[in-house]
Order: sequence, then structure tokens, then C-alpha cells
Amino acid sequence: MIEKRKMLYDGKAKSLYEADNDDEVIVYYKDEATAFNGVKKASIKNKGLLNNKISSIVFDYLIEQGVKTHFIKRLDEKSQLCKKVTIIPLEFICRNQVAGAMAKRLGMAEGIKLDKPILEISYKNDELNDPFINDDYATTALKVVTNEQLAYCYQQVLEINKLLEALFLKTGISLIDFKVEFGIDKQGAILLADEFSPDNCRLWEIATNRRLDKDVFRRDLDDIKDTYQLVLSKLEQLNL
Ligand code: TYD
Repeated sequence: MIEKRKMLYDGKAKSLYEADNDDEVIVYYKDEATAFNGVKKASIKNKGLLNNKISSIVFDYLIEQGVKTHFIKRLDEKSQLCKKVTIIPLEFICRNQVAGAMAKRLGMAEGIKLDKPILEISYKNDELNDPFINDDYATTALKVVTNEQLAYCYQQVLEINKLLEALFLKTGISLIDFKVEFGIDKQGAILLADEFSPDNCRLWEIATNRRLDKDVFRRDLDDIKDTYQLVLSKLEQLNL
């Protein structure tokens, strides 16, 4: 039982628990949904299970394609075993089409296709509201990564984008944008960490333009559970 284990960290959507091996952690996916930096909140039955399953399928696929990640295996409905890493406090956002904050920031319509994937970074800091920053802020002011580490992360984000854009296309879904995080393990290797689920990407069904991601919660468009279940079913049908 997860409750018997020592909690290492309690986040908005996930908690971390001690694993049997000191180099590993158990990531537990909660049913809580939050948006706008925690201002909008709800508990949605089965959301943890759905994100755990979706993220496990995506990480297994990325690992098979040669991406280095923290993911070891899914343990049960709500938890997974991962390598222990120190999270780099940067959010890496990659965009294939204009949406969300970018559309607002630039006064552009959502859905405009970009000529090439666009990369952004934000400083992970709730008190500061995860501000948008640039490379010099990260490497020289905050010193949270070296130039080499940042270049490696950007290259990984572009590779992940290429792989996942093609994967979702097979299910009739456009990968509009996503956010990922990286961590550093005991050996100093940079690994893709956190999760990949409809909570941190935008997925638009190509045939209908239907939103299959957290925008259904942010904008009250649809039932979040049914929507995430549809994404999971589509991925499962690929039999990866
Ligand atoms: P973005 O358009 O920058 O912000 P918002 O979702 O608030 O409109 O988001 C781009 C993508 O990154 C989107 O798929 C959601 C994801 N994301 C997160 O997962 N966490 C975050 O803190 C932010 C800002 C974005």
C-alpha cells in the first residue's frame, strides 16, 4: 500500500514516495486537476489512473525509440517506478501550432501552423508564477543549467516532438504543443522526467477539431474523464 511508504514530495497532481531501492522513487498519480497555477481545482475520479496509463505508454514508446528517461515501469493503476532524479527547475515548452498563452501573448489566432517547432523555457517557481525566461536567464542568472545541458535538453525536446507528433498522428490527433521537464540522476545523466499526459500537452482530434486535453477542464468544454479515456483508448489501439 502506497500509504505505508514515506512521502518525499506532495505535488499538485502527483506525490512521490520512497521506493525499496534508494536510487528509485514511486510516483503516485492523484485525481486532482488544477489549472491557472492552482486557482481552479477539482477532484476527478480516475484521472490519476488515466494519466498514469497514458504517460506510461508514452514513456515506454520514447524509451523504445532511444530517449533516455526516468521511467522504469508502471506498478499499478495509479503508480509507477522511476529513477530518482533532481529536477532541473525549467519547463520546456514546444509548439507546432499557435495556442494558449502564445496566442494570447502575441494576439494570434489559435490553430495557426508554425513553419517549424518553437521552443520556450519557463522558470519552475510557483511563487513567481513560472515566468517565461530565456537561455541567459537560465544559464547565467539562475545558473540552473550549463550551456551544454540546455543545448542537450532542447535537442531532446525536438526529438521527443518528432516522435510524438508522428505517434499521435497515427491516432488521428494533432500534437499542438506540450511541456516536459528533465532531471539529473546520480551519475549526472540528464533524463526526461515528470509525465506526458493530456494535462501537459494540447491534443486536437484532426477530424473534428475536438480538444482532447486539459483545455476541456480549463475552459469547461467537456467531461475531462471521458476525454482522457478517449486518448488512452486511441493509444491502446495502436498496440505499441
Ligand atoms: P501555454 O500555452 O504556454 O500555457 P497555457 O496552457 O496556460 O495556455 O502551454 C503550452 C503547453 O504546455 C500546453 O500544452 C500546456 C503545457 N503547460 C504545462 O503543462 N504546465 C505549465 O505550467 C504551462 C505554462 C504549460
